Amino acid sequence: MLRVRGLTVGYGGEPVLDGIDLDLESGHFASLIGPSGSGKTSILRVVTNLLQPEHGAIELDVNTREIGFLFQDDALLPWRTVRQNVTLGLRIRGAASGDADTQAEHWLTRLGLEGFGDRYPGQLSGGQRKRVAIAQVLALRPKLLLMDEPFASLDAIVRTRITQELLDWVEREHLTVLLVTHDLEEAIGVSDEVHVLSHGPRATIRARHSIDIPRPRNVLQVRRHPDFGPLLQTLWDELADEPPEKGTAT
Ligand SMILES: Nc1ncnc2c1ncn2[C@@H]1O[C@H](COP(=O)(O)OP(=O)(O)O)[C@@H](O)[C@H]1O
Ligand SMILES: [Mg+2]
Repeated sequence: MLRVRGLTVGYGGEPVLDGIDLDLESGHFASLIGPSGSGKTSILRVVTNLLQPEHGAIELDVNTREIGFLFQDDALLPWRTVRQNVTLGLRIRGAASGDADTQAEHWLTRLGLEGFGDRYPGQLSGGQRKRVAIAQVLALRPKLLLMDEPFASLDAIVRTRITQELLDWVEREHLTVLLVTHDLEEAIGVSDEVHVLSHGPRATIRARHSIDIPRPRNVLQVRRHPDFGPLLQTLWDELADEPPEKGTAT
């Protein structure tokens, strides 16, 4: 679905990423973890064509319209209702307003927001807003889903619940996903493979791990799988033996 080859990225001559290779098979769920500032978001920017790499190539088996994005800060428009937010992308793609409304209702119901269509984002909790953002993305039926720390702002209970709902959908639809996360347990819990980025500048992929835990998965029960603890320790060690961030006192 996605092949990243020899990706080298910098900002204004400052090197960030150096020769990143990454393959994502169709129907696989991959996570990308790494120290803050190592260049995780920059990889997603290149994949989505928002950033031009210095070297390297991206090959995608889907066109950019088939890619869905979910970011840490939801991009809901505060002056539009929940329904109007969810239908926005569909309308841009030319859906008739009645059809778009029907689809929006379907997705809002699926995500537990039945009857919330006429509210404004400011009248929702953080978890509800995140569900609207997910409805907005899934309504466009993406084949590849890119997520950048999407649940970082949510409390643990809401986060666990929403992660499970999204995982159920991804497993059922065999969606291909690339998730950037800080959360090692989340990465192990949801992924088929975890890619570990080294500390920048000139970050590289320092390790890759296959997570051979059967699906469907429950994000809480998966922690009791015998592979979970050792994998968590390995990932932790790989991140912990990185040098401290430039400029931080030691
Ligand atoms: N638009 C930008 N201009 C200059 N430097 C940037 C820009 N975006 C990111 N950087 C720098 O590039 C590095 C990697 O950033 P980023 O990809 O956001 O890392 P991560 O997502 O892993 O935290 C950081 O050192 C960051 O300060
Ligand atoms: Mg980032």
